[in-house]
Amino acid sequence: MNTRVLTGITTTGTPHLGNYVGAIRPAVASSRRRDVDAFFFLADYHALVKCDDPARVARSRLEIAATWLACGLDPARVIFYRQSDIPEIPELTWLLTCVTAKGLLNRAHAYKAAVDQNTAQGDDPDAGVSAGLYMYPVLMAADILAFDANQVPVGRDQVQHIEMARDIGQRFNHLYGAAWRVAGGKGAPFTLPEAVIEERVATLPGLDGRKMSKSYDNTIPLFAGGAGALREAIARIVTDSREPGEPKDPDSSSVFAIYRAFAAADEAAAFRAALEGGMGWGEAKRKLCDRIDAEIAPLRERYDALMARPDEIEDVLREGAGKARALAAPRLEILRRAVGLGALADRFRPDDVSPRAGKAASRAARAGRTAAKSRKRARVVSFRDADGFRFRLVGADGEELLLSRAFADPRAAGQASRALESESAADALAPLDDGRFAFRQDGETLAVSAAFADTVQRDAAIVRARRALESLRG
Ligand code: TRP
Repeated sequence: MNTRVLTGITTTGTPHLGNYVGAIRPAVASSRRRDVDAFFFLADYHALVKCDDPARVARSRLEIAATWLACGLDPARVIFYRQSDIPEIPELTWLLTCVTAKGLLNRAHAYKAAVDQNTAQGDDPDAGVSAGLYMYPVLMAADILAFDANQVPVGRDQVQHIEMARDIGQRFNHLYGAAWRVAGGKGAPFTLPEAVIEERVATLPGLDGRKMSKSYDNTIPLFAGGAGALREAIARIVTDSREPGEPKDPDSSSVFAIYRAFAAADEAAAFRAALEGGMGWGEAKRKLCDRIDAEIAPLRERYDALMARPDEIEDVLREGAGKARALAAPRLEILRRAVGLGALADRFRPDDVSPRAGKAASRAARAGRTAAKSRKRARVVSFRDADGFRFRLVGADGEELLLSRAFADPRAAGQASRALESESAADALAPLDDGRFAFRQDGETLAVSAAFADTVQRDAAIVRARRALESLRG
């Protein structure tokens, strides 16, 4: 199975060169790998924690989406979506909130820093702290756990959040693992994610030599303001006062560090030699500007074109949301059942699964059978119509889940319908391109579902059909 790599970008700012070199460029490159399924999303719910200016959040969403697409993110290969288009994420957030220790959140760096600062100033410890800031790690855990991500590429400042996502996921797995399996899930509810910190990717220095960051106000814009803004910002890079002709120290200069992030090794060596040989700062900055522009001018053109057509970006993101929801919605359906929020008909008996009992796992198999029996049964109904002999799979609630093709021979129809009861039947359900799903055996389509409005509803119906098939054997 492919490694799932997932990361989010908070939509509060305008992308700068540091974001490009440190995050966007490597992420786009890694998304082209065949052994990786990549998920990139705009963390716009997280943006609300940091920013209450709607115009800025809206603008940033557009700019960041356009930037990623302009830089080569291929939405056909990567699932690219907005967090706020996925209702399963806030839904999962609540399920996770209820298993998250408050003490864990008390220890989050961002929250603690706010409390420490308040305390130092003699203010109320929680002054100015929103519940959103406090809950930030749980929302982030939901982002990650909803999609069973294996790896999460992040900056160092986010590592604690990934560790918290692991803790929260592990706690949920412990409490509800048995119930999850009774509810039809496989393995554990959640895959535990790992943080991936790209050590090789340089953090770019900003205008003043400190790390390029919006919070230091020392950034060079990537696209915003066009080539003119790029040149102006580069002109403001702080340098020492050595004159043209005097040798310069490349290693203490932002100009060289930024140049190196855009140049091949031999170009960087030539630039180094020129600085050591006395190239003036003015000329060095001109060369830097040309080098950066050679890489980003074609991207900027695409960016400008995309920014002029927000509707197209909207379509791309909605399509991405459809793909993301097709994965998250069926999982949420099982999770809801696992915590006891499924249909009333499939209620757990207290002695089947006690979510808070550590020993529940060992009783899972027995509990699974009992829970299946206590449900009203799904069934296979055979009938005859003008075209021949058919059968349908009907869910416990009476929903028609599958309708077979017509068979001329009643025995062939009977044999096909018994295939529904086989051990491997659940794996023989496969989505079709037209909103339906099929039951196939030996390459033959035996039965199909009704057509669903979208892939999310179809996939949820597949989950219901699996449950029905399982209960046929129960
Ligand atoms: N908190 C991250 C940041 O500020 C953004 C983010 C939100 C994220 N959800 C995520 C990153 C999930 C990785 C995975 O950088």
